[in-house]
Amino acid sequence: MKKVKISASIIGGDMCCLADELKKIEESGADMLHLDVMDGNFVDNITFGPDTVRGLRSRSKMFFDVHLMIYRVYDYVERFKKAGADRLTFQVEATEYVDDTIKFIKTCNMQVGLAISPETNPELLLPHLAKVDQVIVMTVHPGFAGQKFMEEMVDRIEFLSAMKKNHPDLKFEISVDGGVHLENANKCIDAGADILVSASALFDKKSSMKEIVHKMRGGR
Ligand code: DX5
Ligand code: ZN
Repeated sequence: MKKVKISASIIGGDMCCLADELKKIEESGADMLHLDVMDGNFVDNITFGPDTVRGLRSRSKMFFDVHLMIYRVYDYVERFKKAGADRLTFQVEATEYVDDTIKFIKTCNMQVGLAISPETNPELLLPHLAKVDQVIVMTVHPGFAGQKFMEEMVDRIEFLSAMKKNHPDLKFEISVDGGVHLENANKCIDAGADILVSASALFDKKSSMKEIVHKMRGGR
């Protein structure tokens, strides 16, 4: 059985002690670091920008998966490259220049992803699937950690997984982001998830992060 990857979202931690939280994530064995960038416009919350990513980069060799929930994506691509992002994923709703933005991110030698909000028609992704390395299926409304998983999005994971089965040339990974906990991780994996993004579940103080990462992978 395939081993799902765990992407730890640092906004689940204490935002005042990001370096400590990064260390915790590294020691947990999570496969990558998920960095939620929010601008207070595209979403109703503000987190951090390229300078913070750069600071974390200087302390870590982990894969930095940056999830942009901002407008004017194109204008920020180079800044996140310089800050040390390995992959830049942006919301498909955030720009009318999806194709150009994908191309530019690739030109800057980063992997590229598209994220899709729950209310957005998944058909919007279709013209771009062959060009991206990841699709993030949002299973909450983007903006905040700690929300409830939207069960109705499981169909969307299955839809993307079926697309990959029917078109073996499609190489993107399917990430599931929002409300992922031990109770629904298997459902996501069975539906075709390659990556599970988690903030609250991993930072739940009742168990060690290492233990939760292990369990979320289904004990593998
Ligand atoms: C939500 C973010 C998520 C968030 C997940 O807008 O994109 O990455 O950190 O948090 P949990 O796992 O708590 O739902
Ligand atoms: Zn995210």
